[in-house]
Amino acid sequence: MSTKPAILVARAVFPEVLQRLAQHFDVESNQDDVLYTAEELAQRLQGKVGVFTTGSERIGAALLAQCPDLRICANMAVGYNNFDLPAMTAAGIVATNTPDVLTETTADFGFALLMATARRMAESEHFLRAGLWTRWSYDMFAGAEVHGSTLGIIGMGRIGQGIARRGALGFGMKVIYSNRKPLDAATEAACQARFVSKTELLQTADHVVLVLPYSAEAHHTIGAAELAMMKPTATLVNIARGGIVDDAALAAALRNRTIAAAGIDVFEGEPSVHPDLLTVPNVVLTPHIASATIPTRLAMADLAADNLIGFLIHGKALTPLNAPAH
Ligand code: DGY
Repeated sequence: MSTKPAILVARAVFPEVLQRLAQHFDVESNQDDVLYTAEELAQRLQGKVGVFTTGSERIGAALLAQCPDLRICANMAVGYNNFDLPAMTAAGIVATNTPDVLTETTADFGFALLMATARRMAESEHFLRAGLWTRWSYDMFAGAEVHGSTLGIIGMGRIGQGIARRGALGFGMKVIYSNRKPLDAATEAACQARFVSKTELLQTADHVVLVLPYSAEAHHTIGAAELAMMKPTATLVNIARGGIVDDAALAAALRNRTIAAAGIDVFEGEPSVHPDLLTVPNVVLTPHIASATIPTRLAMADLAADNLIGFLIHGKALTPLNAPAH
């Protein structure tokens, strides 16, 4: 019988990360990538002291009450809205996430989605693939200017700052942002960004990018009223989390041309996508891939593994989200 502590890796992951974990733990893995129901997850966590999760595993009080041996949940994501953090802290469970390692890659993708949206890349590609391109014309798929325009970022954490730098330094954009509080002067200067109210941002930005973490207060940060404040020529990009945008209101705003276009990587109720978003042409839709490069996903998986090894073997998690008392 193994004397190593037992852990569960709840989703498929890089084999080399599993091999590293197996040096320290008795690992139950899920390389067939079956999505566990809450009951299956609870059952598989029996006798486990740690679990490697992704955004698809929900960890809350009801589950924790069934898992008396569990001590740590290591999320392979910077976002952790799948964790009920107060319930985990109350149950004495350490929660960890994977900050920093995905910042630049996710900022790259946010900027790519902004450009694809502004320059109508998906819409024009669909047109071409459908065999509809018969001649050049002066206004065919004419989009919005990116360089020199005004970039509005809602949520100015590490990823928001990365997008701001790309916009200001790479594309000569005027950058405005709204956030719970202003950044310190040095960070603002490095991003060449100015703090404004959410209303001013929505009314003046040519391109609005959402990068704020999900919370109950952030639910529907962008709904019909906010979309109505935006310029009819403006674009909206959501790489934050589903639920930050009211997807039904967005689909209506795209259909009515309240705004010009949107680029959406995260959805309410994903992997389901609001059916109306699938039928409007002026939206670029991607399946939650903002951090998806192999080096970055490997770095995220390695950091989640290091959190399990750090806490369970050496007594200290690397990137904890909480500090339970027991
Ligand atoms: C994150 O890290 O939060 C990404 O959205 C992947 O889930």
